[in-house]
Parts: sequence; C-alpha cells; structure tokens
Amino acid sequence: TTVFSVGSKNFTAVAINTASKAGEWIQSKLGDFNSLHTKYSMHDLVTEVDKGAEKMIRNLIQTHFPTHAILGEEGVEPGPAASQKALDEASHEEYLWIVDPLDGTTNFVHGFPFFSVSIALAYKGEVIVGVVYDPMHDELYVAEKGKGAYVKGKRMKVSLEQKLSDSLIATGFPADRQMALPTNMRGVQALTTKVRNLRVAGSAALHMAYVAAGRLSGFWEIGLNAWDVAAGALLISESGGKVTDTLGNPYSLQVRNILCSNGQIHDEFSAELVAAEATGF
Ligand code: IPD
Ligand code: CA
Ligand code: CA
Ligand code: CA
Repeated sequence: TTVFSVGSKNFTAVAINTASKAGEWIQSKLGDFNSLHTKYSMHDLVTEVDKGAEKMIRNLIQTHFPTHAILGEEGVEPGPAASQKALDEASHEEYLWIVDPLDGTTNFVHGFPFFSVSIALAYKGEVIVGVVYDPMHDELYVAEKGKGAYVKGKRMKVSLEQKLSDSLIATGFPADRQMALPTNMRGVQALTTKVRNLRVAGSAALHMAYVAAGRLSGFWEIGLNAWDVAAGALLISESGGKVTDTLGNPYSLQVRNILCSNGQIHDEFSAELVAAEATGF
C-alpha cells in the first residue's frame, strides 16, 4: 500500500497548500510584472513570476520534506535535451517532487485566464500525488494514487463519449517549433475532421485536469515535459480515464508525447495519430 506521509506530515496537504499559495500569488501578479524573456525559442516565454512561483514552491516543499528531491521547470536549462537529462538524473530519487510553477505562461502574459500550478510527487518513479490549481477559477484538482481524484472536494469522473465523432478534444502547440510542432500539426490535420471539435487553450496541465473532470474527452501533445503532465496523469487515471504515449504505451515519467482520454475513445484516438504519423516516431 502507498504511504502518503512521513511522521505527521502529509504529502497531499503540503502539495495542496503549496499550489494554492503559489497560485494566489501568481494571480496577484497578473498584469503587474516587469520582466519578460524568451527561452528556447521566441514562443517560449518566462517571467519573474514563473521564477518567483518556483522559488516559493521549492521553499515550502523543502521546509516540510528536506530530504526529498525537486525537479522544477525553471531549475532546468531550456530545450528538450537539457530537460531529458534533468529528468534522467532525477529519476533515481526515491521521493521526487515534479513542479511546473506556472503552466500557461503565454496565457498569463496576455491575461488569458487559463493557466495553472502543477505539483506532483513520485515515489520510486511512480506518481502518487497530483495537484493542479487554477487560480482564476479557484479550482483545485487533487488526486492520490488509489484514492480517486477531486475538484473542489467533489469526486471527478471522466466523460462518457464512445466515439471520436462525439468528442471534444484538446491539444497544444509545443514551444519546440522545429521537431514537435510539425508532428503535432499532422495530428491536428487528421483529427479536426474526425472529432466534434478541437480546443487549444494553452495549459497542458489544465487540459488534463479538464479530461479528468469530464469537460474534455481527450488531449494529446507532442514534446511535453514531466512537469507539464505528471499531476494531470494521476488526475485522469484516478478519474477512470487512460493516459499513454501517442503510440499507446503506458504512461511513465519519461513520456513526452502524451495521449490521454476518457478511456472509451483511446484506441481510436491513438490509431488516428499513428495513421497520420503524428506520434513523434
Ligand atoms: C506550456 C503549456 C502549453 C503547451 C506547451 C508547454 P509552460 O507550458 O503547457 O499549453 O502547449 O508545450 O510548454 O511553458 O507555459 O509552462
Ligand atoms: Ca515554460
Ligand atoms: Ca508547462
Ligand atoms: Ca511553466
């Protein structure tokens, strides 16, 4: 059985408290920040708010669990090679916190109210706690392995669509416009005619929370990182949905090409991406 605490300190309580505090601070900085830089490409933004939120999150986690490791987006050099290396290095840790302090930076910069804080805890490479917080809608999504997933305290359940033609799907346009974007566009081209409609709202973590909550039937994106998806993956599996890579292989922290759904449409969804060669392989 999974252990969710050390001594009197509960992992999930710390994740919730930390995500809420960071989210509230991020919201307070909306439209009120000075620095805006690009990272890996002109599509890859970072602000002082991303960095400040990560610092706040690291401090809070370290205070409670000083022996645990933390993998946070802003602690890693930009680009796919560096992030792969950082993940490989972190993967041997017993307890690893995986943090996206602000998922949806572009939305935050423009005041488009769809961004989130994503915090996951992995034990020996398996995610056991996942928390996503959407400060603009004050929606807190929480999952514990084997214990279900909740939004605002209410148990979540994935949607019931059985066919792609009845489905509302989301994707994202990756910051890596060289490799990942063309692959993703093949998926967009193939799927747009097959699904009820497609959304690209700009936060992978929140898209995944929406799949868990039954508001989206599925989501895929090429070239993501562990911090974008680790919390969302547990939210979905604990809500009765399915998470794999785009070829249908089981989810692990190494998966960068994510495919998730209510489970019912999963095979059809994956088959379309494979047929369109929109799987990154
Ligand atoms: C990005 C968002 C976006 C997705 C990109 C991610 P960030 O994360 O999740 O929706 O399309 O691939 O990099 O940089 O805003 O944390
Ligand atoms: Ca980023
Ligand atoms: Ca992200
Ligand atoms: Ca981020």
